[in-house]
Amino acid sequence: MNDLEMYREQLALCDDKIIDALAERNAIIEKIMAYKEEYGMPILQPHQEEKQQTRLMEKLEGNKYKKEIQDVFSCVRKNGKRIQARKLFDYNIVLIGFMGTGKSTVSEYLSTMFAMKSVEMDQVIAEREQMSIPDIFETYGEEYFRNRETELLIELQSERGAVISCGGGAALRECNVAEMKKNGRVVLLVASPEVVYGRLKDVNDRPVLSGRKNLEGISELMELRRGKYEAAADIVITTDNKSVLAICEELIQRLTEMDE
Ligand code: S3P
Repeated sequence: MNDLEMYREQLALCDDKIIDALAERNAIIEKIMAYKEEYGMPILQPHQEEKQQTRLMEKLEGNKYKKEIQDVFSCVRKNGKRIQARKLFDYNIVLIGFMGTGKSTVSEYLSTMFAMKSVEMDQVIAEREQMSIPDIFETYGEEYFRNRETELLIELQSERGAVISCGGGAALRECNVAEMKKNGRVVLLVASPEVVYGRLKDVNDRPVLSGRKNLEGISELMELRRGKYEAAADIVITTDNKSVLAICEELIQRLTEMDE
């Protein structure tokens, strides 16, 4: 065997070690999940993630391949998150609720914590139409926009383990709710009119609020929609005065309880 052949052999052995280490790591992740479940502990522990990152940085201090190893670890960590997500949710999480109740924030947080695909319906529709939501309403009317929502919900049934943040009006059509439920669990986020008003008072991209962007107008519309939202929901989560972490933890607990 010449030197080159020998090095290649050594490289293959290294790869074997990496495979074994990754398999072991993934199995440990599953054990941690099972432990948390057994003892009713929170699933999301962002501090732990920070600790792991600090430890990694210390370990890599002065390492010639620091950057390359860091890149690999960001993938390794993402995969760990995916394993957790797959174990927890083999369906899509469909977030519904009034404007300003926190759907996009929760969606983004969940997708970061579990490396899940996140779909912001309004954003997808705006990109496809190459127009802002207010412009779509103005140019083609609300019905046109609602039809795009229905189409997108049907399309999204092919996803698995995605977080879908719906526009505030998507759950008002009964047929949309039926489409959401074909491959998803519907989570209703609620907030008080005061909180919603506080969040939306300075933005101008919600055409359904035009002429009623005040506490009374918001309360009225919310009340009008409440029955439909509640009928659509598999679970309801109040978001007032809660951190996004607390909301997501509650959401996970409630969704997993549904499987028991
Ligand atoms: C709407 C809510 C908006 C957007 C559109 C209509 C509604 O989404 O889809 O302006 O009818 O409630 P957000 O709930 O994300 O603001």
